[in-house]
Amino acid sequence: MKEQGDDAMDLLQAARDVRENAYAPYSNFKVGAAVRAASGAIYAGCNVENVAYPEGTCAEAGAIAAMVAAGETVLTEVLVIADSPAPVPPCGGCRQKLVEFGGPEVVLTMCTTDGATQEMTLAEILPGRFDASHMDRA
Ligand code: THU
Repeated sequence: MKEQGDDAMDLLQAARDVRENAYAPYSNFKVGAAVRAASGAIYAGCNVENVAYPEGTCAEAGAIAAMVAAGETVLTEVLVIADSPAPVPPCGGCRQKLVEFGGPEVVLTMCTTDGATQEMTLAEILPGRFDASHMDRA
């Protein structure tokens, strides 16, 4: 059985590796993300930009899409990495995408390529989120 530390390292390695494939010619800011799904499998994604700037997609969205395409809809861990001065936080839209599939206690690890990390739960990064209960009168 793997130690917790090994698991975290797997996510980090997956996110580091996929970041190399990021397509970011406009921002020059490459991002890698990895999620662990309920099965234990890891899914990774990178940002994919477009000359029509709003059409670009974030690394987190890519990782989530890979997870769902593989038939999984529950994530238990998330890690994001970029070459930034401080651990890189998911954008607002990606926070909403993450909470669609991860419970409030799921840990998000934000990383820089030079080794700084910060952990927060999904509940902490998206307080007051919109959820299905807000549509109860619909
Ligand atoms: N980006 C991500 O992929 N994830 C984040 O958490 C923050 C921002 C991407 C989007 C865009 O390609 C580039 O970083 C600059 O915003």
